[in-house]
Amino acid sequence: MKLFTPYTFSRSGKISNNRIALAPMTNTQSNDDGTLGEDEFRFLTRRAREGFGMIFTCASHVSADGQGWRGELGIFDDMHIEGLSRLSNGIHGYGSLGIIQIFHGGARSPESLTGKQPWSASAHTMTISKDSTVVREATEEDIEKAIEAFVAAARRAYESGFDGVELHGAHGYLLHQFISTFTNHRTDQWGGSFENRIRLIRTILKKIKSLLPSSFMTGVRLSPEDKLSFKGIDFDESLELAGILADDGADFIHVSPWDAFKKPDKYADGEKTIIEYFRERVPAEVPVMTAGKIWSRTDAEKILSLGSDFAVIGKAALGIPDWPKKAEAENFIPQMPPYTINHLRDADLGDAFIKYMGGWKGFVIEE
Ligand SMILES: Cc1cc2nc3c(=O)[nH]c(=O)nc-3n(C[C@H](O)[C@H](O)[C@H](O)COP(=O)(O)O)c2cc1C
Repeated sequence: MKLFTPYTFSRSGKISNNRIALAPMTNTQSNDDGTLGEDEFRFLTRRAREGFGMIFTCASHVSADGQGWRGELGIFDDMHIEGLSRLSNGIHGYGSLGIIQIFHGGARSPESLTGKQPWSASAHTMTISKDSTVVREATEEDIEKAIEAFVAAARRAYESGFDGVELHGAHGYLLHQFISTFTNHRTDQWGGSFENRIRLIRTILKKIKSLLPSSFMTGVRLSPEDKLSFKGIDFDESLELAGILADDGADFIHVSPWDAFKKPDKYADGEKTIIEYFRERVPAEVPVMTAGKIWSRTDAEKILSLGSDFAVIGKAALGIPDWPKKAEAENFIPQMPPYTINHLRDADLGDAFIKYMGGWKGFVIEE
């Protein structure tokens, strides 16, 4: 029953009522200026009401040139604080912790949205599906501005009453692009050696930790290894990075392998799953969490038994908004996708989000 017992974050003293977290999920429901949309508020507070101990928001951009999608939550200006305060109050009203995931898209912030040529650690041509984008190399000024933007975003999250932020260091966005040998060929202090490639994420983490009170959490999400076109991540370096970030003061390490039960590709013949390696490498006082294909209560309990301190639920939480309540019953059998549009509307997904999920194969079915 560990799944339903509270968890105290030792570095901040924050308490989650259980070990069940809503995964950060882009839902395209924010207003064009990045302010909180009504549907996004309903989607997230519904999951707090239904018993998720922790609610992660979707990736929210820390600067206007870091936006990745239309309808994305913004945290780059003080105008965002009003909506975010309403959201944190809504989440806290049901007793859950609220964490804003903060990010910059880097190469993956299209000019069509930002009006600016995308930039990254190094110049490259990025191809996703059939689209190619010419990406320029970051200047020292770009990097300094990005650091300040992350820090200012964390301050806004704090002022909005959130319990913390998560630095999105995964899934091929700016922080990941600096860590990756595939997109970072710099020869200055921001690239080359492992120590230099991880300097950006470490600098941001340490700066936030030094400026905000210790009760405000700063966690980090990492991709543990290469996934699809996002290459240049070595599993042993990821483990090392997780340990270093924990030593730098991270309040939690959130691993995103897309399959929580997976073994690392690098040690596929070994015994251990990715999360077991991370649990061994990160000091015990720093929780590790993971997401990916957790659907049933058995899945969630299994991931905790492998050493994850939280079961982070993504797609299952879209179709089953009351997942924590349902999972309390021993005989809970999760309803799997595809879901009808009406089913998703009942689960408080707005029409923009349902349309977006239509692009996820096999998730939405026309009535
Ligand atoms: C619609 C959707 C949007 C997502 N957006 C984000 C995001 O903004 N930030 C992030 O770190 N991960 C994002 N993810 C990944 C999830 O957080 C999660 O790691 C992944 O879906 C695997 O968990 P699941 O199998 O339970 O869905 C997204 C996933 C989905 C399905």
